[in-house]
Amino acid sequence: MTRRQDLKQGQPRLSNTDAPSMNEILHTRVSRRDTLRGGLGLAAGTFFAGAGISGCNSEGGKTAAKLSFSSVPGSTDADMLIVPPGFTTDILAPWGTPITGSFPAFKPDGTNSAEEQAQQMGQNHDGMQFYPLDDSGDRGLLVMNHEYSNATLFPGDGRSEDANGAPTDPDQVRKDINAHGVAIIEVQRDSSGKVSVVQGSSYNRRITAATPMQMSGPAAGDALLRTAYDPTGMSTRGTVNNCARGHTPWGTYLACEENIQGYFINTQDNPPRETARMGINAEGFGYLWSNVAGDPSEVNGEFARFDTTPSAASATADYRNEANNFGWVVEIDPKNPASTPIKRTALGRMRHEGCEPGLIRAGEPIAFYMGDDDRFEYFYKFVTAENYTPGADASNMLDNGTLYVARFNADGSGEWLKLDYATNPALQNDFASQADVLVNTRTAADILGATPMDRPEWSTTDPATGEIYLTLTNNTRREEGDENAANPRAPNSHGHVIRLAEDNSRADATSFSWDIFLFASNANADADFNKSGLTQDNELGSPDGIWFDPRGVLWIQTDNGAPLDFGGNDQMLAVVPASLSGDRTINPQTQAELKRFFVGPAGCEVTGVTMTPDYRTMFVNIQHPGGSFPANDGSSRPRSTTVVIRREDGGEVI
Ligand code: FEO
Ligand code: CA
Ligand code: CA
Ligand code: CA
Repeated sequence: MTRRQDLKQGQPRLSNTDAPSMNEILHTRVSRRDTLRGGLGLAAGTFFAGAGISGCNSEGGKTAAKLSFSSVPGSTDADMLIVPPGFTTDILAPWGTPITGSFPAFKPDGTNSAEEQAQQMGQNHDGMQFYPLDDSGDRGLLVMNHEYSNATLFPGDGRSEDANGAPTDPDQVRKDINAHGVAIIEVQRDSSGKVSVVQGSSYNRRITAATPMQMSGPAAGDALLRTAYDPTGMSTRGTVNNCARGHTPWGTYLACEENIQGYFINTQDNPPRETARMGINAEGFGYLWSNVAGDPSEVNGEFARFDTTPSAASATADYRNEANNFGWVVEIDPKNPASTPIKRTALGRMRHEGCEPGLIRAGEPIAFYMGDDDRFEYFYKFVTAENYTPGADASNMLDNGTLYVARFNADGSGEWLKLDYATNPALQNDFASQADVLVNTRTAADILGATPMDRPEWSTTDPATGEIYLTLTNNTRREEGDENAANPRAPNSHGHVIRLAEDNSRADATSFSWDIFLFASNANADADFNKSGLTQDNELGSPDGIWFDPRGVLWIQTDNGAPLDFGGNDQMLAVVPASLSGDRTINPQTQAELKRFFVGPAGCEVTGVTMTPDYRTMFVNIQHPGGSFPANDGSSRPRSTTVVIRREDGGEVI
């Protein structure tokens, strides 16, 4: 029996570890489409025949961007940054950099207080976006996520803990909470190209896991969101585990809440489905912040809320629903420091990775594409009900619209399945309302028969063609026989990049076509695994961050758990994908080569990338470096940081 048949019989999954069904026509499809692909697919011989050539593509007669550099070598365990000759790097705003308030200096021994941490850059920089304040980008706002925290936050070897490994010091828990969230900093570029934080800027702001937030959209105010903090279900505190990011054309930033199950605990034998399906259990990631609940200093359940086990007679007297206020996309207005972040429930509740728009056209709706990063989870899009009008009030754009989940058919077509309670009898059978559907987005998508993917991470949109590229970082739990056409390797240790084109190029299309752009691999793997023919110059594992800059250069970042043959440090590569004609046939003469541009220091993840409008300054984030980066003195504690990359001659980074 196929998995889809299971689901049509109304048997949604309780956990995220179910294996999907075998797709019997998988191999037929992969070999047929190999000859059609325009990407870095199996047609390696064709592609590499044209390697390094980037000419004029056919799309509107526009000249394709051309990469200027040669691949840098990979490295293993080198505690340094590697860029091509002619480029240089600077460190900007590492964890602990003071940005607001009394500008408390970073204390390298971990003794900054909770209050000081709230005035400094948080830990584990991740997705980010540059918002120019002038035409060139000499001044702008850099907005970034602080995904999670490490033991480096605290003095010595880490926080004070009891025999069970749970925290015992409420001030340390508050510091941990304040090391999470989002930072907004004004940055200024001088005439030499150096970028620095404008320390006293009124834009500078920290949003933490305790900052008041508004709930909005169809689930706001629903009984499932009501807590002792807000019995109306219209507000909550904080955002956690913000990984990739999104942006809107009206100038807001979208921080996405990913691994929320790391922060909340639940010790019920049979927790409700909205708890179980998100993977919330008795331990989380071990943060266990509720362990200091009941401390005399606790304000308004600030610690108790992280335990969602019912403890009172009703949901408005405890925090059983607290985690239902997490797992959303959070809209933040970086240019209004007084604004309250808004969680937009219409976009669904999942382990949100990113939320990037497709092509933006005035007078049409906008689609926002969203990966749910977990094994066998799904790819979604939200389509606004309103058409986009530049300059118009956009405050309801992300509250009104339709949420869809993707089904990838084996013939290269695909369908967007509507998560709409009002029109779907199967959803009406299992849920009480659209709010219930949204709180339980994953379960609703199970019922519709969405395609289980190999961990959907970031997505990005080709500015020339409107095609959507999605990274699928890896899935070592996919077993032989469980493949599907869109996820054809089992186990998938190295991940791949898939792309899709909406029918008629419409944001509100309900069908699409797709192909696999790139199979990540180590260079020495057998050809049946190294399907893109990667070499020493461009082997990669676990693609995660992915971003088309407006010139059409595709930047791919890695979060490596996968072995490589010529250097295991995480990296960023670039390619100018062939511009595809309607029949999606490759033209090797327009396909530029995938090249390694940047290698991070030992133990880090390379994540987050954005540029100034003149392309002279690129920002890349280095997360959880393992050595003593960026001090590189062998003894300092490592700090996540932004790295500024620029050309020594002041030209465009390309
Ligand atoms: Fe936080 Fe899916 O990476
Ligand atoms: Ca990350
Ligand atoms: Ca990620
Ligand atoms: Ca990742």
